[in-house]
Amino acid sequence: MTAVPPRPTELAHAILKAAIRQGDTVIDATAGHGHDTVFLAQCVGPPGRVLAFDLQSQAIQSARAKVETAGLSSRVAFHPSSHVRMAEHAAAQSIAAIMFNLGYLPGDDHTFTTTAPETLTALAATAELLRPGGALTVVCYPGHPAGAAEAEAVEAWLTVMAGHGWQLAKYAMLGTLRPAPFLLVARKA
Ligand SMILES: C[S@@+](CC[C@H](N)C(=O)[O-])C[C@H]1O[C@@H](n2cnc3c(N)ncnc32)[C@H](O)[C@@H]1O
Repeated sequence: MTAVPPRPTELAHAILKAAIRQGDTVIDATAGHGHDTVFLAQCVGPPGRVLAFDLQSQAIQSARAKVETAGLSSRVAFHPSSHVRMAEHAAAQSIAAIMFNLGYLPGDDHTFTTTAPETLTALAATAELLRPGGALTVVCYPGHPAGAAEAEAVEAWLTVMAGHGWQLAKYAMLGTLRPAPFLLVARKA
């Protein structure tokens, strides 16, 4: 980790680095510029696999370029589609970890963001795809109204899963002017 206290995205990496094993299959549900995709490809090692999803073609292009530069292309399968379709590309209970970094593509159209209905549908697929003990991280951005509603919906969904034996934690900066991005971490029962 570089910052103290760490940013939610950095903390997600630190947590997943300890949870992912060489040879695992994992999912980047929001590939964006590929920072998380490269990180995940490093974690799974040469025998592992990353399935990376993004709805925007410019995001897929950007993430693919980053993965190629890192020499990790053989470990990553890109899917230019919504994360609601994740379950079409992996078997139930086969996935070790799934990352969501919600919101918009930095440097691009800020009006194109993840949405609560699609995110909740993708989280239902996550529950099916994660293996028992598998890890889920979701970075939420409640600093604008749609992001706040989405963050609230995601947190409520995970709280229900806690009732099904999932372990759940929330990390956020304190004392910020606007509602700060926060990280939700879950371990499937
Ligand atoms: C904050 S960015 C992700 C950052 C990325 N993880 C990285 O490391 O650079 C959020 C991304 O979610 C994507 N997105 C929005 N709705 C989506 C959906 N339904 N399925 C997949 N990706 C979606 C956006 O196109 C955007 O690229």
